[in-house]
Amino acid sequence: MNDFVFLSNSPAATYALGRKIGERLTAGSVIALIGELGCGKTLLTRGICAGLSVNLRQVNSPTFVIVNEYQGRLPVYHMDLYRLGDIAEGFEIGILDYLARAESGVIVVEWGEKILSLLPDESLRVRFHILSARKRRIEFQATGGKFRSLIKGLD
Ligand SMILES: Nc1ncnc2c1ncn2[C@@H]1O[C@H](COP(=O)(O)OP(=O)(O)OP(=O)(O)O)[C@@H](O)[C@H]1O
Ligand SMILES: [Mg+2]
Repeated sequence: MNDFVFLSNSPAATYALGRKIGERLTAGSVIALIGELGCGKTLLTRGICAGLSVNLRQVNSPTFVIVNEYQGRLPVYHMDLYRLGDIAEGFEIGILDYLARAESGVIVVEWGEKILSLLPDESLRVRFHILSARKRRIEFQATGGKFRSLIKGLD
């Protein structure tokens, strides 16, 4: 079940949505972004980072490393699991150690579908669907009260 569905008509709308989310985030947040190549995961992440007052020049998909770390109102750990084969490989690279860092900050995981079973009880799942060149359907699913109230405020 989805708690909130957002229809984005432009990159700017997706970015603005991310910004709104970033402004509302508290320490101990894990956000899993799910969806195919080019659906808008990094763009939403840039918006989230802007909302957390991260210097945006730093924010790009961490293609050659698993995680990029940014300093804003809270530390942000931006993970991109595109190259991750399977969960076993996830354990090898210490994915649980990365996830544990969320306690002090915010973790945003692109290709989060690869580690769904490792997400903490309280997390936000965001699923993107490409509707057309400029349109995206973005579905939010919250586990835990904190994220439920966060996405209520996005309406
Ligand atoms: N409504 C929209 N929301 C988000 N992105 C959009 C939208 N319309 C067009 N786009 C375009 O789609 C692309 C999204 O790129 P982005 O890097 O954010 O995707 P991604 O999901 O991170 O891809 P990858 O899987 O390669 O990491 C951008 O070029 C952006 O301009
Ligand atoms: Mg990306």
